[in-house]
Order: sequence, then C-alpha cells, then structure tokens
Amino acid sequence: MAFNLVYKGPQLRGECWQQAVAEALPDANWFTWPDVPAPEDVDAIIAWTLPDKALKTFPNLKAIFSVGAGVDQLQPDTIPDSIKLVRLIDPSLTQQMQTYVLSSVMMIHRDHFLYQAQKAQKNWQQHKVALPHECSVSILGLGELGKAVAEQLSMLGFTVNGWSRSAKQINGISAFHGPQGLSDMLATTDILVSLLPLTEETRGMISADTLAKLPKGASVINAGRGEQIIDEDLLAALDSGHIQYAILDVFKDEPLPESHPYWTHPSVHVTPHIASITRNDTAGHRLAENLLRWQRGERMTGEVDKTRGY
Ligand code: NAP
Ligand code: GLV
Repeated sequence: MAFNLVYKGPQLRGECWQQAVAEALPDANWFTWPDVPAPEDVDAIIAWTLPDKALKTFPNLKAIFSVGAGVDQLQPDTIPDSIKLVRLIDPSLTQQMQTYVLSSVMMIHRDHFLYQAQKAQKNWQQHKVALPHECSVSILGLGELGKAVAEQLSMLGFTVNGWSRSAKQINGISAFHGPQGLSDMLATTDILVSLLPLTEETRGMISADTLAKLPKGASVINAGRGEQIIDEDLLAALDSGHIQYAILDVFKDEPLPESHPYWTHPSVHVTPHIASITRNDTAGHRLAENLLRWQRGERMTGEVDKTRGY
C-alpha cells in the first residue's frame, strides 16, 4: 500500500520526517498542509492539532499521528472508531522527561529555592541535607514516561511510589492504584510528580482535596498537562505554606499569560513546556517504523484507546 500522508507542522520538522519516511517507504506520498491536491485520497495525517473540519476534509482518513506523546489536543473522543489515533513513543522523549523530573526533584531536594532566596539577601546559611532515601517521590502515571522516571529516581536511592489506573509491579517502586491507593500514596509523599495524560478523569484531579492529603511541606511538579491542576487551589496551598514549592512545565493556557500569579510567585518555578520536546532527528524514524508496522498489518506503537483517552 502506497500511503498518502499529510503533514501539518513546522517546515524543518516536516523536511526531516519526510526524508525519514522516504528512506523507509519510498512509495509513500508526502503532502504538507494545506497543499493537498486530492484530500479524498489521504490515508493519514501527522499533526499536533487537527485542522478545522479535518474529518470532513479527508473523508477516507485511516489514521491520525500525534507529533507528541499526548493526544488530548486531538480530542480522542471525537475521532471515529474507523480512524486509528497514534501517539509518539520515542526514547528521546523519555530521556528528556527523565532529566526534567530529575533536575526538578533535585532543585527541591537540595534546597535550591531556599538558597536562591538567601542569595538575594547575601545570606550565607547552611541547612541540613537530607539523603535521597529520606525523600519520598510519588509519580502520578506509570506509563512510558512515568515508569522510566520512577526507575531512574529509584536507582539514585530516592524512595519512589507510583500511581496508575491498573495495578503494577515494578522493581524498587511501591505501586498504588485506584482512589484508595492514591490517598495512601499521597499521605507518604514529599514530592508529587504528575506524568498523567489529560482525560476527563485526570482533569482537575490535583485539587484542594488532593493537596490536603499531602503532608505539610510537600512539593508538586507538573509535567503532565496544565489542566490537571486547579491553579487557584495550588496557589492557596502554596500561600498557606501547606505546599512548599511547585515546579510547573504545563499550563491551562499556554503561553502562560503575563498576568498569571505563577510568574511572580516566589515558590513557583515555571518552564515553558520544555520537559520533553519532540525531536526532528529521531521522531521521524519512529513514524516511519510505525508506517511499516501498519503496512504489514501489525499493531502500531502508541495506538491510543480513544474511549480511555490515552
Ligand atoms: P502513557 O504511557 O499513556 O501513560 C499514562 C499513565 O497514566 C499510565 O500509567 C496510566 O495508567 C496512567 N493513568 C491514566 N489515566 C489514569 C487515571 N485516571 N488514574 C490513574 N492512572 C491513570 O503516557 P506517557 O507517554 O507516559 O505520557 C504521559 C503524559 O505526559 C502525556 O499524555 C502528556 O500529557 C505528558 N507529556 C508532557 C510533556 C512535556 O513536555 N511536558 C512531554 C511528553 C508528554 P495505566 O498504566 O494503568 O493505563
Ligand atoms: C508534549 O507535551 C507531548 O505530549 O509530547
């Protein structure tokens, strides 16, 4: 089958991915949105977000490939059963997420917020240093990214917990699932990390209730999706001192609006959705590998369960 593919995204990435696909599938036809001469012949679209009315524009579409790990922006529940939805799984994404979470955990664990504040006052004051095993890091989401992050932190000696929808067994990690599992895990957490997908179930789940279940002085890292946190609740918990620090990479509105209190809050560190960025040089090969699997009639890596939403 010679695929007709439409790419919608930055030009440089498109050129790299077109080349990777051409090497693996010389017969494939590559079109760049919006230059698509025969939309009715298009088999698959590769995009971060879908163009308006895409499903009508491409009546014979068989697959949608997200250019990222997440698919919430493609509204999985609106995509018919006949169209496969495929997310990106790439070791380069996993490695970046490992270093993002590790550096964030270290920033909290080694008191860099505190020393930054002391520096502003030229205050030379030493504080007790905790050992990694004395710090309990809990990861929400034990999927492709969460599991790799949990394993790395565990290897470095942190006490690591993880929470997922289904029960899991992972060496060196205390795994929890379900609502009671979440409450039990939160009660023993020093640093809570979200690596959950955004679904109807995870939207707003880091709420006043959830934060109240954390011990006083716990911190939060969010590299999942912004809408998982209720911002007002997190800000209130930070202001009351119940939550010590927050390191946030993802936000309800991106770019984060200039007027947002996160920008100026002394206990909040903001990064502009850079925890794990799709690489032009590697991800095109993952796409090509998946197209080959599809051509052979095999299941592709990262096929999404649209009813579950991830
Ligand atoms: P994944 O492999 O699909 O893993 C998702 C994990 O979340 C699974 O362990 C799943 O549990 C768990 N989960 C989902 N819904 C749940 C629920 N209602 N209750 C409990 N656990 C639930 O996804 P991934 O590749 O690790 O990526 C996770 C997310 O990271 C993406 O969806 C995206 O939003 C975000 N992300 C952010 C960046 C960034 O730069 N900030 C970059 C890439 C990805 P089960 O294992 O039981 O199914
Ligand atoms: C980035 O947020 C991604 O989902 O890949």
